[in-house]
Order: sequence, then C-alpha cells, then structure tokens
Amino acid sequence: MNIFKSVDSIRSSCLACRQNGRTIALVPTMGYLHSGHLSLIEMARKVADIVIVSIYVNPAQFGPGEDLSRYPRDPERDIELCRNSAVDMVFMPDDAEIYLSGHSVFVNEDVMSKVLCGRTRPVHFKGVLTIVAKLFNIIQPDFAVFGQKDAQQARLIQKMVADLNIPVSIILAPIVRDVDGLALSSRNVYLSAEERERALAIHRALFSALALYRSGERDTGKLKNHVLNIIEHSQPNLIDYIEILDNERFVDVKTITSTALLAVAVKYGKTRLIDNISLSPAEGME
Ligand code: PAF
Repeated sequence: MNIFKSVDSIRSSCLACRQNGRTIALVPTMGYLHSGHLSLIEMARKVADIVIVSIYVNPAQFGPGEDLSRYPRDPERDIELCRNSAVDMVFMPDDAEIYLSGHSVFVNEDVMSKVLCGRTRPVHFKGVLTIVAKLFNIIQPDFAVFGQKDAQQARLIQKMVADLNIPVSIILAPIVRDVDGLALSSRNVYLSAEERERALAIHRALFSALALYRSGERDTGKLKNHVLNIIEHSQPNLIDYIEILDNERFVDVKTITSTALLAVAVKYGKTRLIDNISLSPAEGME
C-alpha cells in the first residue's frame, strides 16, 4: 500500500493505473476510521481494481465554534486499518497541499443544502462539496463510495455530479450500527457512557417510526410526533430537527406516497448526532 501526501504524486499514480486499464474507486474520509468506513472500503473493492482512501480533515466544512480543533485523529491506526483492508493507496494531504494560499473558488448548492443540517451549519456543505470536487479532480475515480448515514451529504454529492457533469459513479453504502443500535460515527467517541446510553433513543425512535409506517401510517406529522416523543424521553440537550422529506428533492412531505427520508439531528451533551431511515413503499409491503 502506498501513501501519498502530494497532489502531484497521487495524480501520476492514478494516471498510470488508468493507462493500464485499471478502474479506481475512491473512499473519501476524514480519518479516525471505524467499521462504517471499512464497509465503504469493502464496497469499493467489489467494484474497482484499485481502492484509494483519502484521509483529510477538511477545515472548510467546519463552521466557527465547531469541533475542527478537537476532531478525533489517529493517522497511524488509520494507515494500519487501510493496510489490513487491502487498500491500494492512501491520500493524506495537509492543508497547504489542498488549499493553496488565496484559494477562493468553492462549490455551492443553493437548494437542498439549505434544509436539515444546512440550517444550523450554513458553511458545511459548501466545504464538503468543494473538497469532494477537488478529490474527484485530483484522483479522477470511476467510482466513489459514501455512507447513507450522511444522507444529505450523499444526496448533495449526487446532485453535484449530475449538475456539473462529473464523470464518476456514486455508490451509497448502508448505515453501519453498533450492536446497541447507535449509528457508527467518528464523533461517537465524544459521548460519555451516560450520554451514549441516552442517545440509543435515536435508533429506537427511527425503527419504531418505521414499524408504524409499515403498519400503514403515512401522515408525516404523526410519524414525526412519534419520533419526538421517544427522543424527548431520553432528555437530549437539543433536538435540532426531526424531518421527513422526499428522498429525491429533499422537500417536506405531508403524506408519504413515494420514498421518504426520516432524518434527525440530536445533541447529547455537546455531541451532535445525525441518523436517518428510509420510509419506502417497498418497506410498507413487508
Ligand atoms: O463524510 C465525511 O467524512 C466528509 O464529509 C468527506 C466526504 C470525507 C468530505 O470531507
């Protein structure tokens, strides 16, 4: 496994791969890898000859007062995990390599980035789309794999690729949960044992709403109230949102007639957790 720090060096290696007719799958990450990331790597391995993992904590996607300075990092462990997962290349640039002095061009999405997390994190998706576009330009992968846990991020990346004609296939991987049901996230490390216990209400609420949906409930007001009641019981420090949106356009729906996304963002202590579940007609048939 080769580790690259510079844009030029990974570019030439990727070019050589392409010239040899080999396909490339990219798994963009901010490091502190967990089993969720490993499932993305596994998926990448299934579709392409070469798997590249990028590890870069992108400052542009953190707003003022967010957790950039304390974001968990363990590059040595990440490298070991990549090696053990048969990753071919790791791209670990530093800030100066990615954002040259005077960098002033960003990728912005004007509609779907304004809802859900975009309301409280106004610069977040601009930062995400910019770094992902840069990684696509540097590596020029055939495939890129993202987790459904960050559903809004994944949808925005699909939209960017479509709107800007970027030649890459986006693959979405299902949410990976711990045995207790908590969706895996690098930020779970911030939770105290007591906060983590309370946070399990998120998963309980989503799956309970899914059961209600499967029993025939289509009124999103009732479904959201159901989720709210369960989460409120866990005494969260803040409920940022509980929303049910059309899965494609990310607009509010009152009655579910096609696939909808039930998404929540809740704070326990200082840790903001996001999670989601799909409510689709196919689910209702089960
Ligand atoms: O999901 C993440 O870890 C990040 O938002 C991403 C896609 C690697 C961009 O920095």
